[in-house]
Amino acid sequence: VLSDVNKQKMKTLYTHRFSRVAGNMKRSAIRELLKLTQRPDIISFAGGLPSPDTFPVEDLKRIVTDLLEQDGASALQYSTTEGDLGLREELIKRYDREGLHLTPDRLVITTASQQGLDLIAKILLNPRDVVICGLPSYLGGISAFTSYGAQLVGIPFDEEGMRPDILENTLTELLKEGKKVKFIYLIPDFQNPAGVTLPEKRRKTIMRIAESFDLLVVEDSPYREIRFEGEPQPLLQQLDKSGRVVTLGTFSKILAPGFRLGWIIAPEEIIEKFVIAKQTADLCTPIFTQKTVERYLKSGNFDKNLQRTIALYREKRDVMLEGLHRHMPDGVTWTRPEGGLFLFLQLPPRINAEAMLKKAIGHKVAFVAGSVFFCTDCGQNTMRINFSYASIEENKTGIKRLAKVIRDELK
Ligand SMILES: Cc1ncc(COP(=O)(O)O)c(C=O)c1O
Repeated sequence: VLSDVNKQKMKTLYTHRFSRVAGNMKRSAIRELLKLTQRPDIISFAGGLPSPDTFPVEDLKRIVTDLLEQDGASALQYSTTEGDLGLREELIKRYDREGLHLTPDRLVITTASQQGLDLIAKILLNPRDVVICGLPSYLGGISAFTSYGAQLVGIPFDEEGMRPDILENTLTELLKEGKKVKFIYLIPDFQNPAGVTLPEKRRKTIMRIAESFDLLVVEDSPYREIRFEGEPQPLLQQLDKSGRVVTLGTFSKILAPGFRLGWIIAPEEIIEKFVIAKQTADLCTPIFTQKTVERYLKSGNFDKNLQRTIALYREKRDVMLEGLHRHMPDGVTWTRPEGGLFLFLQLPPRINAEAMLKKAIGHKVAFVAGSVFFCTDCGQNTMRINFSYASIEENKTGIKRLAKVIRDELK
């Protein structure tokens, strides 16, 4: 057992050994909070976890058995860095249906979207380069970019997502200051954490701004297919006329995060660098999971399962909206997402959600304090709550508990 003095010595010893990238890395508040989901007495709205009820275990059992019997030799082998052609072609067929026509050299498989974010940062960012993101934005994206030394500049949201007028003014200012802006990071559909969706008109405006400032756009889209209502809006990738959009997709929320399987669509020049960067990261994404998912897509059951997932999450969202409406005190407002996994709450300004979290855990309910999603000091009175993971009953009970904690805080 190390004494405290020795622990301190070790820390000092290692501090100067770590790289600048490691020095930029901070522990993730979400990861710490995810540990709470393992305590059975706490209803956790904290993580971004899909419901295990949506995992098609029986179908996958059959598929994995068939795969091992019929194609075991290649399913257990190394594969190409670009990913299995069969799976890429299945994904391309899905995009074809949306009107986005791709060739396999524009789409490569990733070890889920988080790898995509990390490798994008690796190939595009130098220390002090600026990345434009939302206020708020996905913490895993923020962390990936800052770990490579990027400076994040946040653009405020309204109920339709990023404000293009502020984006344009900010870019003009940054240009005057001589800053090197590399890309705009967006989650256009059912944003994590805000739950808002960029309408087509605003997507077009943002693309026009990206063009006029000659910027790349990273479109991170894990929730797109989980739409409960309203019309699908075009992908930024579809609106792109000048080869500047990188789109990230993942099976994490539409099938199972345990596969760690995603993909990236980008102009060929970016794909080329991305593949080289991926080689040093993991050589290739496991072919076993790729072939399993390819077979599942081909079986026709993927879409049926996705429809069931959407119906379940719609019900869970509705239960939560109803609970919020009934129990929350005046002064608390929330988003009404048309899809995805999250609601975002705005509390009266005098409440600090981070400080309140400890009390909430005391009342056996957890959330993520919204401030972790802001790259500035704002958002202290906001919180993200997930509605997909807990059961319908737990969603009802959890919202009651949360409302009591907020009411007590306001006394
Ligand atoms: C916006 C966003 N991007 C990327 C990810 C990472 O997803 P995965 O690595 O599981 O594909 C998440 C996960 O919650 C997310 O919300």
